[in-house]
Amino acid sequence: MEEERIVTNHVLEQDEEVDNSIRPETIDEYIGQKEVKENIRVFVEAAKMRNEPLDHVLLYGPPGLGKTTLAYIIARELGSNIKTASGPSIEKSGDLAAILSSLEPGDVLFIDEIHRMPRFIEEILYPAMEDFSLDIIIGGDGNSRNIKIDLPPFTLVGATTRAGDLSSPLRDRFGIVSKLQFYTVEELTQIVERTSRVLTMPISKEAAIELAKRSRGTPRIANRLFRRVRDFALVDGKEEIDLEVMQKALKRLGVNQSGLDETDYQLLSAIIHKFNGGPVGVEAIASSIGEEISTIEDVLEPYLLQQGFLKRTARGRVATEKAYEELHLNYQNTIFNQDYNV
Ligand SMILES: Nc1ncnc2c1ncn2[C@@H]1O[C@H](COP(=O)(O)OP(=O)(O)OP(=O)(O)O)[C@@H](O)[C@H]1O
Ligand SMILES: [Mg+2]
Repeated sequence: MEEERIVTNHVLEQDEEVDNSIRPETIDEYIGQKEVKENIRVFVEAAKMRNEPLDHVLLYGPPGLGKTTLAYIIARELGSNIKTASGPSIEKSGDLAAILSSLEPGDVLFIDEIHRMPRFIEEILYPAMEDFSLDIIIGGDGNSRNIKIDLPPFTLVGATTRAGDLSSPLRDRFGIVSKLQFYTVEELTQIVERTSRVLTMPISKEAAIELAKRSRGTPRIANRLFRRVRDFALVDGKEEIDLEVMQKALKRLGVNQSGLDETDYQLLSAIIHKFNGGPVGVEAIASSIGEEISTIEDVLEPYLLQQGFLKRTARGRVATEKAYEELHLNYQNTIFNQDYNV
């Protein structure tokens, strides 16, 4: 069995169950993402006043930051039902036609991983998004004909970790495009405190902050760690998660100070040891650590860049002084340094 990695961005099997039980249900319970939240609040309010469906919404950003959660909240705030689908599961044009024709007026259609929808299926979405109409071809062998079906007004909410992979005609049809950001320690602390209330396991303030610091800016990771630390507290017969049990648990779980993932370390270490600190192209990094380019670009890099472990230059990725410190290496010893800020 593969060893479980606690601080990882990849979705673990048990995540789904965890996510569902502690997912905030209203916009007020949704912590952080202030700008995104305020915009959504205004647009939802306006749509309700006009008695029109909300404009289509595209949510993008790294995994575990709350895209799915927000999609459900949008439907709830609209007072609408939500139907869900995911890009890779829509394989034939008939699959999408069936979903679209099942919609009721005002419904929210949530398509997760929308960037993985085949291009020829995307094209069916264009008229559906624009004019609420479905153009389908029936029959074949010289005997085919086009039929046009009216759809009820609906709101498409798309989620993706790769906004750049969306074709521009699709991207342009979203009236509201929102990028989710990594959470601050303060916000993650609030999220951990909320989870503690939902799961009725008290946590001290210092312990919550400690956990927040080690969660890679990501609520899913914070919640996952919370559940594991809770187990340690239970076994120790503690009624509250305090700093002592938190530190012990984090140590046992192998979560380090900055909350970086094993793969983060592999990546930084590869840049430093195999490529002299960079600059190095993402393809070379990918093959050297055996990860997909897309995983590096969408999952690993965003946090490392945001935290200043990595810099992107015209000539490739460069490990920063902070990265060397993180790996307990001497920055001065290297031949390559800041000169590569192109
Ligand atoms: N703003 C928030 N406030 C409180 N909890 C949150 C927030 N955002 C996310 N969470 C928690 O984090 C978990 C993961 O969020 P979610 O499943 O919405 O992420 P996602 O962006 O859809 O991830 P993926 O890209 O992997 O699909 C949720 O179950 C929820 O409990
Ligand atoms: Mg999701």
